[in-house]
Amino acid sequence: MKKEMIYEGKAKRVYRTDDSDLFIIEYKDDATAFDGKKRGTITNKGILNNKISAIFFQLIEKHGVQTHFVKTLSDREMLVRAVKIVPIEVIVRNIVAGSLSKRLGLPEGTTLKRTVLEFCYKSDELGDPMINHYHTLAMELATEEELKQIEQTALKVNEILKSFLAQRGIVLVDFKLEFGRKDTQILLADEISPDTCRFWDSSTNEKLDKDRFRRDLGNVEEAYWEIYKRVSI
Ligand code: TMP
Ligand code: ASP
Repeated sequence: MKKEMIYEGKAKRVYRTDDSDLFIIEYKDDATAFDGKKRGTITNKGILNNKISAIFFQLIEKHGVQTHFVKTLSDREMLVRAVKIVPIEVIVRNIVAGSLSKRLGLPEGTTLKRTVLEFCYKSDELGDPMINHYHTLAMELATEEELKQIEQTALKVNEILKSFLAQRGIVLVDFKLEFGRKDTQILLADEISPDTCRFWDSSTNEKLDKDRFRRDLGNVEEAYWEIYKRVSI
């Protein structure tokens, strides 16, 4: 049973349930970019992200990675294990795009010779600044053991998603993961959707993700539908 809301983010709400080990996540149509400076709605985004995330979490679990996902409850809601989010955003990059392109002056679309992992400190006030292992340990955001597990899991998730998506004509350019603590365990948490990943069509390089909203490219909802259509077969 859904109880009080305990958190409202830009794209999701989290509710307590009558079981203290379980939360309900509700996906909204609201979209923001650039630290909330750009705002809008993408019709049906909440429904599509709920469905797309569920497919990805199930796929990842099948490959032996533990996630917070329990089951889909409705169009916009999923039941998840109650975790405490580790305040680190883990970004995995296969191809140069977005902020990496700006920061290093590399053209978007350049294939990276090795997968790049980045960490950002989750803080809206600070605009999620990039941090390294030293900051993470000094600020006690995670232990060395946890960091190791988070990195290994992020790289494994990359391999799982990359090959699944390649079979569906989608290039996984980059994505962001969040992890949560449940007792002593670390679980993959949050969402995996066109809001948190860059997906390019393999043959045309057309962007099929939130960059269509960020950059005013049009056909935003259509791109989310296209991803859902391709991952649900
Ligand atoms: P970036 O190029 O803007 O740093 O984004 C890298 C990836 O992380 C991209 O797939 C989008 C995702 N991302 C989020 O999910 N949330 C965020 O707040 C940001 C900045 C990026
Ligand atoms: N969702 C983030 C924000 O509102 C950034 C992004 O996805 O571009 O700032």
